[in-house]
Amino acid sequence: MTPISDIQSVMHPAGADAAIIYQFTWVLFVGGTVIFAIVMGLLALAMRRQARPITPGVWILGAGIAFPVIVLTALLTWSTWRTGQLVPQTSHKALSISVTGKMWWWEVRYRDPTSNREIISANEIVIPVGESVYLGLTASDVIHSLWVPSLAGKRDMIPGRVTGLNLRADKPGTYRGQCAEYCGEQHARMAFHVIALPRPEFDAWLARQAQPAVPADTTVLQRGREAFLAQQCQTCHTIRGVTDVAPQLDARIADAPRLGPDLTHIGSRRHIAAGTLRNHRGTLAGWIADPQAIKTGVFMPPSPDLDGETLRALATYLEHLK
Ligand code: CUA
Repeated sequence: MTPISDIQSVMHPAGADAAIIYQFTWVLFVGGTVIFAIVMGLLALAMRRQARPITPGVWILGAGIAFPVIVLTALLTWSTWRTGQLVPQTSHKALSISVTGKMWWWEVRYRDPTSNREIISANEIVIPVGESVYLGLTASDVIHSLWVPSLAGKRDMIPGRVTGLNLRADKPGTYRGQCAEYCGEQHARMAFHVIALPRPEFDAWLARQAQPAVPADTTVLQRGREAFLAQQCQTCHTIRGVTDVAPQLDARIADAPRLGPDLTHIGSRRHIAAGTLRNHRGTLAGWIADPQAIKTGVFMPPSPDLDGETLRALATYLEHLK
């Protein structure tokens, strides 16, 4: 598996669009610095007592009109040409992933090519490296914005509307992204990761995600699963093969804003709570016991009456769902 990197920077481009944005950043920064230095130099010259007077007409024509027109025309031409090289609209055969922004996490939906069933995950967007991928974006409550600086620019996610973002990762790796539109109390803890895998690894990952949850085959795991159901976790969380409800009910509640992440393969994710904590038994137990202490305002209620043994079994069960 690719090691986790928390790189989230426009200065470390790893995709086609990010490389263009990176180039813009430098051209504007260096260009702006040079012009600033020239202006300051001229200012210093003008302030010298014995400066030779220059005809005002030369200044107005040269520095006031000709120079800005030349610089701005050059910038416009160059940026229009470079923008034309952004990752093109993907063909209908390209991989399409739906991402929904929610307070304060990301729901990620794929379509399994073999069964054509929908696979629902959270907070991690897994993509094949070197391929253009289309992200269909929306939100279920307020406006969010998806931004993964190492790969592409920002795109707003608006309730009731679908916006699109094409991106391509040119190097395998894990790239951190962040909600880029203030969306309430936990906006800062609304992160996600894009994981770019070589095609065969991606296919294997997708096939694994399409499977229902692995069975609870030991006493501890069974106890964990029972605790999950006894605590009514299935009111908000799905574990495919364990908590399935009738399809028509499923469709009706699927977009309920308060619904929590699908946990079918939660053990395979690197983080929980939208990039807030590394994912392991300890953090899972801490989160279940008191999510409000970690992320105040989230919809998940605390479970203060769970005894230590049950909590450990429940966390072990979730960790086991790879
Ligand atoms: Cu979602 Cu800020």
